[in-house]
Amino acid sequence: MLEHREGLAKFCAPLYDTITSRNEVFYNPLMRLNRDLSVLHASALAPGRTILDGMAGTGIRSLRYMLESGHEVHANDLNPQATALIEHNMHLNDVTMRVTQADFNVLEGKYDIVEVDPFGSPVRYLNPALRLLKKEGLLFVTATDTAALCGASYAACRRKYGARPLRVSFCHEVGLRILVGYLVQQAAAWGYGLTPLLSYVKDHYMRVQARVLRGKKRADASIDQIGILNYCPRCSERLCTATPRYECACGTSFEHAYPLWCGSLHEGNTIDAMLKEVPCSHIDAPGETEAFLRMLREESHAPFFWDSHDLCARIGVQVLPLAYILEQLTAAGFEATRTHFSPMGFRTDAHLPDLVRVLAS
Ligand SMILES: C[S@@+](CC[C@H](N)C(=O)[O-])C[C@H]1O[C@@H](n2cnc3c(N)ncnc32)[C@H](O)[C@@H]1O
Ligand SMILES: [Zn+2]
Repeated sequence: MLEHREGLAKFCAPLYDTITSRNEVFYNPLMRLNRDLSVLHASALAPGRTILDGMAGTGIRSLRYMLESGHEVHANDLNPQATALIEHNMHLNDVTMRVTQADFNVLEGKYDIVEVDPFGSPVRYLNPALRLLKKEGLLFVTATDTAALCGASYAACRRKYGARPLRVSFCHEVGLRILVGYLVQQAAAWGYGLTPLLSYVKDHYMRVQARVLRGKKRADASIDQIGILNYCPRCSERLCTATPRYECACGTSFEHAYPLWCGSLHEGNTIDAMLKEVPCSHIDAPGETEAFLRMLREESHAPFFWDSHDLCARIGVQVLPLAYILEQLTAAGFEATRTHFSPMGFRTDAHLPDLVRVLAS
């Protein structure tokens, strides 16, 4: 057992060379940014909120929520070794929070924020999570089953998310949008509208921090933003539509991924509020966290991002520097930004014929 520090919390936890669900309780330093962004989001809220960290592991996230955002926290885990460690770590930090050892699916109560951070897919925990949210709440979900969501395990995506993924150069964005679409549909069944405030893909996981508001009209408005990706395997055209299209302008049959979220992945006001918290926060690498948030803030909302190498090959030009592509598109009056999904990627509201006209001329 080693003693670690992250943010304002100190805690004991074993550190394994590889993290798997077979490790009883573990500390995963790779998830630090994930926890930084959770804490910043919670810190940006008015004081006096209640947070359920339903799968707390070592309790690091719960402790950070308590120490850095000042809200009331309930830490839960099914594993008795985890809850014993949470109790130990709580005393180490000289704080008090509610700690329970229970299956997430049978927890009771109402919370402002419900945190779902399981091994693999969150799908089995979404119904309880929605039940545990107040009328106006925030749902924070991590998914590490990226192979399913990105199309490497096609059957698993069909089985868990009822969705068809697609193995394309922008499959991480397709996967994230399948995840958000799934959350929207689950919330809608409860009569809730769900809006993603911060969604991203990093390392081995996907993360969605969403606002959930009760109301059938809100639920319908969220559902209206679910659609289909029509993708041309020949020219790489991609269109997000409410109903399927079958033939690309180049004459090739479209391939499809669905259902998926076609709306914005972030809300500017939320990211601005989080950015304001950075200077007074206790996060370990504020520069890195701020840069990541700024990248999300500046990213255009238009689905789906283009891989600049892939695009140049498709339109038959030598690989163009990303900065040049962005400059040319902006000068031609289009929105064009980098994307957190890929260092070679960019996002634009220009469609393929515009891209050919601007970049291949
Ligand atoms: C990925 S770890 C959590 C990591 C932790 N949130 C963090 O930030 O370090 C997943 C945790 O979920 C717990 N778990 C698995 N199934 C559960 C269930 N049905 N109810 C509650 N906890 C569960 C496991 O014991 C494990 O500690
Ligand atoms: Zn085509």
